[in-house]
Amino acid sequence: MIATATRPLLEVKDLCVDYLTDRGAVRAVDHVSLEVRKGEFLGIVGESGCGKSTLLFAIARLLTPPAEIASGDIWFEGNDLVSMTESELRHFRWKQYSVVMQSAMNALNPVMSIGEQLRDAFDAHQHLTGRQVEKRSEELMRIVGIDPVHLRSYPHQLSGGMRQRAMIAMALAFTPELVIMDEPTSALDVVAQRSLMLKIKQLQREFGFATIFVTHDMSLVSHFSDRLAVMYAGQVVEVGETRQVFADPKHPYTVGLMRSFPSITGALQPLSGIPGSPPDLARPPAGCRFHPRCPHVMPRCKVEEPDFYAREADLVRCFLFDA
Ligand SMILES: Nc1ncnc2c1ncn2[C@@H]1O[C@H](COP(=O)(O)OP(=O)(O)OP(=O)(O)O)[C@@H](O)[C@H]1O
Ligand code: SF4
Ligand SMILES: [Mg+2]
Repeated sequence: MIATATRPLLEVKDLCVDYLTDRGAVRAVDHVSLEVRKGEFLGIVGESGCGKSTLLFAIARLLTPPAEIASGDIWFEGNDLVSMTESELRHFRWKQYSVVMQSAMNALNPVMSIGEQLRDAFDAHQHLTGRQVEKRSEELMRIVGIDPVHLRSYPHQLSGGMRQRAMIAMALAFTPELVIMDEPTSALDVVAQRSLMLKIKQLQREFGFATIFVTHDMSLVSHFSDRLAVMYAGQVVEVGETRQVFADPKHPYTVGLMRSFPSITGALQPLSGIPGSPPDLARPPAGCRFHPRCPHVMPRCKVEEPDFYAREADLVRCFLFDA
């Protein structure tokens, strides 16, 4: 029983995802391993094109060609997600985990009202009477802070922030254990972003779901995530407690990322950023993928691929910690 109690909610092991292109396979997710515990908020950060969305889509089993899981495992409470059939997944998705994407405008059906879309979801997954669906839909709207009158609204009649909230209402319809979020606030202005983030955090506390939250925004993860995974060129390069990673970033890429954003609590620093740009994933550099940009590059970095090394509670994929 102890084993069950301590088992993570989600375990991703050595996951590889390829895009099968005319130029050959592009490995967008390369041997990624992650764990998410019950109720935990895991942030994932990294520059554009490093594989964050591909990783989330793979975990949610929503990849479409030319993308495919090349190898690895995804375990959700002991269930093997990789080998699940589409019909098995239909029961699993929404009830066990759900997904909120960057743009609700793309995810919502433009010709159906929010209420109709919720009703469709309920009809597909649960046997409720019309009145029960109505009551539950109203309750969900209130939970995310929208007046239930907007159940009659179409997506284009809502503000960006309200559309994202409506998406979150749908994602919570069946009280899943995990909500996977891909930059849910990034299309919003700063004020709407902050209010949506506070709402997500409040809902998370209230309902106890775990979250994998992808963002470009370091200040968001610093405030809201429990643990943080930093991705570079398809790989996780550092993972640890958010507080620890911010207080003492270890991987040279994490250090560079931190410098690319103004310090939230400390004195203002010049935004030095990271020179250069991430590699083309069709032809990643040999050895450590960060070596062409790394200020600490050593001869071995150009030929050998670093493994993960443990430092305090962090795991770091860098030879500087191989001792
Ligand atoms: N349709 C596609 N065909 C081929 N390669 C693709 C395709 N979509 C993505 N890729 C490859 O996968 C990589 C990762 O893309 P992904 O969208 O997962 O990155 P991301 O970290 O989510 O970026 P962003 O921060 O811009 O959303 C890209 O750099 C690209 O090399
Ligand atoms: S392994 Fe080498 S090149 Fe890669 S981040 Fe560490 S020091 Fe830099
Ligand atoms: Mg993305």
